[in-house]
Amino acid sequence: MTRVCLTRHLTQPIMRRMGELFELAAPKQDERALTKAELLALAKDCDVLVPSLSDAITAEIMDGLPTLKLIANFGAGVDHIDLKHAKKKGIIITNTPSVLTEDTADVAFALILATPRRLSEAAQEIRTNSWHGWSPMHLLGHRVNGKNLGIVGMGRIGQAVARRALGFNMKIHYHQRTRLHADVEKEFGNAEYWPTLDDMLQEMDIVTLHCPHTPETHRMIGAEQFRLMKPTSYLINTARGALVHEQALTHALEAKVIAGAGLDVYEHAPNIPAELRKLPNVVLVPHISSATVESRTEMGERVLINIRSFIDGNMPPNVVLGD
Ligand code: DGY
Repeated sequence: MTRVCLTRHLTQPIMRRMGELFELAAPKQDERALTKAELLALAKDCDVLVPSLSDAITAEIMDGLPTLKLIANFGAGVDHIDLKHAKKKGIIITNTPSVLTEDTADVAFALILATPRRLSEAAQEIRTNSWHGWSPMHLLGHRVNGKNLGIVGMGRIGQAVARRALGFNMKIHYHQRTRLHADVEKEFGNAEYWPTLDDMLQEMDIVTLHCPHTPETHRMIGAEQFRLMKPTSYLINTARGALVHEQALTHALEAKVIAGAGLDVYEHAPNIPAELRKLPNVVLVPHISSATVESRTEMGERVLINIRSFIDGNMPPNVVLGD
């Protein structure tokens, strides 16, 4: 029987099916990610490792698991896995794209609404019983309807966000390496393509990030980019924390270089600097973009299919190609 090691507990139907199909190892607790030593001990002798984004799958981990043949990642992003080393060792990597697109786009759009409308501050007033009643100047934010939305990375999730934005009469702009086909741009209300990120940033009311974290996109938004953005603009990040220079973002928010930020992801999650946490003009949520029973179960199903295909000697459907 194939030996499969999970680093986290998954939804019940997935755990049950995995237990039926494989010789399964899983941690006793699920409060926190495994330490390196715990992971190496648990996954000892496994053929397949099922990590998630909270596990750093380094060269050292791979070298410590000599029987490992497949890393069937539970999640779409794979920036926590040393792809180059896996390739060198002939370890196949798969992920779970597509199934979390709509739920992730929902959270991105929730932040697009919540941040300019200051919902976090507003809710806090009620919770702390500090509301003094309606007033014309109380908690004024900015309108979302009809504004310029800049999408960085117009892939599956970026496009799902664009579809939602059309319902709010937003003008869609996007930046990525390759321009979309004119028919696709038309579908998004003649979305405007910006070959240069810095040019797009200057014109946007809201910028939302939907690209993978790679060495090329690492800290792509820093002090220089914040200076280019309008003082009334907002940054939304549901992709990866390390796309943004977090300290520069904190300074930009403190100095009102931009108006606010809505974040689901952080550079050193789960550690979020106190200076960022205490700012009023941020909406901060703890990486919940794919946190629905439906997404997490479908992600588990993807993992199962990838492992089964691999065992059957076929190319798994979601192979991630390293450089
Ligand atoms: C992923 O799968 O990479 C997502 O960030 C999880 O929410």
